[in-house]
Amino acid sequence: MKNLLVTGGAGFIGSNFIHYLLHEYRDIRIINLDALTYAGNLQNLNDITDPTRYTFIQGNICDRDFIDSIFHQYQIDTIVHFAAETHVDRSIDNAMSFIETNINGTYNLLESARDYLTDPVQNKNFRFHHISTDEVFGSLEPGEAPFTEKTPYSPNSPYAASKAASDHIVRAYFHTYGLPVTISNCSNNYGPYQFPEKLIPLVITNALSGKPIPVYGDGRQIRDWLYVEDHCEAISIILIKGIPGETYNIGGSNQPENIEIVENICSILDVLSPTKIPHRKLIDYVTDRPGHDRRYAMDISKIQKGLGWFPKWDLKKGMEKTVKWYLQNQDWVKSIVDREDYQNWLDNNYSLRKVGR
Ligand code: NAD
Ligand code: TYD
Repeated sequence: MKNLLVTGGAGFIGSNFIHYLLHEYRDIRIINLDALTYAGNLQNLNDITDPTRYTFIQGNICDRDFIDSIFHQYQIDTIVHFAAETHVDRSIDNAMSFIETNINGTYNLLESARDYLTDPVQNKNFRFHHISTDEVFGSLEPGEAPFTEKTPYSPNSPYAASKAASDHIVRAYFHTYGLPVTISNCSNNYGPYQFPEKLIPLVITNALSGKPIPVYGDGRQIRDWLYVEDHCEAISIILIKGIPGETYNIGGSNQPENIEIVENICSILDVLSPTKIPHRKLIDYVTDRPGHDRRYAMDISKIQKGLGWFPKWDLKKGMEKTVKWYLQNQDWVKSIVDREDYQNWLDNNYSLRKVGR
């Protein structure tokens, strides 16, 4: 692993991954290819100054000629593919860009990689790592066993379906063409630089500005939350020790209901940024998301036993660190929430949601 192409590196997890890798590994060079959609933000990488170790290129993963030229120009040996449309609610509103980027874009990268490696079977040092999600497995009933790598795919949202399709195509390129691929399916991440429309930063941002905190449905949906730095470490371990053709589940092994997450953030803010009325008074139950998955949970025994990775951050510490980061980076938040396109999204997503109960 010397010359890495990171796609989607200006987004939430991609930018955390670039920081993590540059900090942990001295002899690598990262090429960050990102289209800078509404979710991409170069401010996330402002503090990286060494041009010999990091290069940003604005471009779209759907642009085949451009991708071909990057592979050759930078002699890429490792690709870590984060670029995607990622917000379930946006995919419900309009799935077109999800099909385009998540499916066609991934296919495009695979074809480019295949062309670049004249004999992929011989090229043991090349790796195509595809970042995916637990949402491809669908929804669990209470008490049902967590998802393993063998759980059949059953995606419920257009977002999850587009990620499932991309996973299948990546897998097929290993079996058909011998392209050295690995896939990781990770649970919900939280931490610095997450785009403010996602649950955790949205709760922090609304609570700090005294706005209603929207909780979908009964708020009792369950996610398996992982601090983003743990995800970054897991990916780097898979790059080094993972076996081509294999998939790895990654998760935080916790099972809070959404309402517990929201109340926990409110309690942290009551201490760090106290107001006359407790922040939890802002909680507003609103109309549920259509097709809302009830519960996700990940069985991480394969990566734990096989590669020695396990999450280091517990939810309490990770959440406190995250809330502090948002408090200390209000300029970053403001530069996004003040944008007209962001306000339009909030109007679009929330104005028609009636109070749920
Ligand atoms: P994000 O929405 O914050 O960032 C996505 C990035 O991809 C942005 O910088 C955007 O500009 C870029 N991008 C989008 N379309 C592009 C295109 N056509 N060409 C080039 N760049 C493009 O997403 P995230 O939360 O950081 O997620 C990153 C990856 O991790 C995604 O593949 C997602 O499915 C996966 N994932 C996310 C989570 C999570 O909780 N956030 C959990 C599991 C897996
Ligand atoms: P989200 O951050 O969108 O991640 P995902 O849908 O990929 O899991 O949402 C996390 C959970 O929070 C999910 O169950 C939906 C819920 N949610 C709300 O209750 N209110 C909100 O305003 C948002 C954005 C999400």
